[in-house]
Amino acid sequence: MSFEISVKRISQSRLPDVDFNNLPFGRTFSDHMFVADYYDGKWQDYRIVPFEHFPIHPAAMALHYGQAIFEGMKASKSLDGKPLFFRPEQHGIRINRSAHRMCMPSFPEDVFEEALHQLVAIDANWIPTDPGSALYLRPYMFANDEFIGVKPSNTYKFIIFTGPVGPYYPKPVRLLAETKYIRAADGGTGEAKAAGNYGGSLLPAKLAQEKGFDQVMWLDANEFKYIQEAGTMNLFFVIDGTVVTPDLSGTILPGITRDSFIKVLKGKGIPVEERPISTDEILQAFKNGTLEESFGAGTAAVVAHVSEIQIGDTLVTLPPVEGRKIGPMLKATIEGLRDGTGTDEFGWVIPVRELSTATI
Ligand code: COI
Repeated sequence: MSFEISVKRISQSRLPDVDFNNLPFGRTFSDHMFVADYYDGKWQDYRIVPFEHFPIHPAAMALHYGQAIFEGMKASKSLDGKPLFFRPEQHGIRINRSAHRMCMPSFPEDVFEEALHQLVAIDANWIPTDPGSALYLRPYMFANDEFIGVKPSNTYKFIIFTGPVGPYYPKPVRLLAETKYIRAADGGTGEAKAAGNYGGSLLPAKLAQEKGFDQVMWLDANEFKYIQEAGTMNLFFVIDGTVVTPDLSGTILPGITRDSFIKVLKGKGIPVEERPISTDEILQAFKNGTLEESFGAGTAAVVAHVSEIQIGDTLVTLPPVEGRKIGPMLKATIEGLRDGTGTDEFGWVIPVRELSTATI
């Protein structure tokens, strides 16, 4: 290894204060975090330190112009207690694609990988084991120049913190097809995991929630006709035995869960199509009784069954979750990989390396 990650441990763990029987998503943070700084044209000062606040300059560029990107990933424990990652390298690749789009420096994939292993090994006791729970990992990068001219920053911070989480959507979700606001247009930043994409989604999501929906279903920016994704996940539909999901046209997030589902379905010989899907097609399938399932797919959500979708004047009601085959099968497949009981046909499960004696 041509780099070093220094480790400063917390003096007293906060673990005894955590109620693992009550883990809302995203509110509990583990003891340590990984931090790196970019200056003088390179990433440096790799360190694992106690999870804590850090000072930020009021003019830090990320706060003004949104040069900020992130990832969401999970670690779990096998039933015999071994910490596991799920396709960690894909997140290293994707954060660098987001970095490219947002004119930020790429982060070395070998450092990313080593940082994940060391960080999760150090905080392995924070990995919850209840079904549906996991240790959520949040790698992110932001522009840190103290400057208010509009230009790419010369300095950045890269951080990974973690926290135990329960399910993101504990029950099936109701979606509203959005026909006023858009999430992403051709040529925009829709396929990057950029902070601003989520910022822009909040008002439409709030308005949808006021009408009793959980999330918006985004449509294309040209005609409000083709389905893109839901707020925090990619979307799948099962129509007459075929699984369909919007293709990666540049406006939707290239979800790693989405990609895993497509590979699992193909492996089982279940027909799956990545292609444009219009709301007319969904309405038609609903009317002729061939709309069998819909679900969202994402790291946080895993599988979020969709119970209803409001499309214009029509409330599309999906069959009850109990009778569904595809969504529950995919959920069980991912959960089986996460707890080590499933067969890892694709080599997606990566055991967290034990700490070397130097790091203990
Ligand atoms: C994830 O699925 O991990 C995401 O990043 C969605 C998130 C905004 C909760």
